[in-house]
Amino acid sequence: MAAEVRKAVFPVAGLGTRFLPATKATAKEMLPVVDKPIIQYAVEEAVEAGITELVFVTARAKRAIEDHFDRSPELEGELESRGKADQLREVRDILPPGVSCLYVRQAQALGLGHAVLCARPAVGEECFAVILPDDLIHHEGAGCLAQMTETFEREGCSLVAVESVDPDDTARWGIVDVAGSAERVSTLSGIVEKPPPAEAPSNLGVVGRYLFRPGIFEALETTPRGAGGEYQLTDAIARMARSERVAAYRFSGRRYDCGSKLGFLEATVELGRKHPEVGDRFSAFLAGIR
Ligand code: UTP
Repeated sequence: MAAEVRKAVFPVAGLGTRFLPATKATAKEMLPVVDKPIIQYAVEEAVEAGITELVFVTARAKRAIEDHFDRSPELEGELESRGKADQLREVRDILPPGVSCLYVRQAQALGLGHAVLCARPAVGEECFAVILPDDLIHHEGAGCLAQMTETFEREGCSLVAVESVDPDDTARWGIVDVAGSAERVSTLSGIVEKPPPAEAPSNLGVVGRYLFRPGIFEALETTPRGAGGEYQLTDAIARMARSERVAAYRFSGRRYDCGSKLGFLEATVELGRKHPEVGDRFSAFLAGIR
């Protein structure tokens, strides 16, 4: 039986250049999809999976994330005195009781691998999850991370979430090399960052959900800079897979790349249509657009 996964790392120190100018002074993770910031969807998914310690790897211009998950006595007092009970509950429920936040800084955006390594002092020698909030994953049943923690309990090895991608589009993804690509869980023999289609070992692209055994930190420490001169998490995973089992996990759910304008708009439309308060009227509005 694998150890319980209590901690999740949220690397949010990237520059968000694809969303400029919106992200010049604001964290892209705070952009709202309908009525919640992107980061809150990620945190809700983690909490649903039983995570109780949230470790954010932040940088400058990301202060709003800390404020969002902090209590706000002035706002709560104001809502209470105005009798706005629903909004008060919403604000208080952002972080359920028993869940705590920790913030570590990544002084320079040296890559996702480096960002995860910055979380090492907060994680220690435990198994942990990594969630990239840009990848918003919607599923009517158990969330992607809950699916992965359940699989982790059974398999006991590190897991990387994957989904089928357009074979002509592999250069936009980390691509895994696995034996049985039709399986839900397949042992990973390699992983390549953004290969051209002719060199891609499969059409399974890495999505921003991982469950790691602590060995990933050793791999990160010994992995040199890779593509784009950055410390790549995929390179460290490839290194780790040489010394212990790592598996690709095909999750159930729909993923939206909210780090890109198109993915963000798609998520907004889909979740807007499903929103309990405005969904019906928004769907009617969309049906009326030519
Ligand atoms: P991205 O590749 O999306 O980079 O990072 P980015 O800077 O956030 O956005 P663009 O491409 O410039 O628009 C993937 C994830 O890794 C984190 C990002 O915050 C994002 O969650 N990251 C990336 C770091 O935390 N630190 C880094 O040095 C790089």
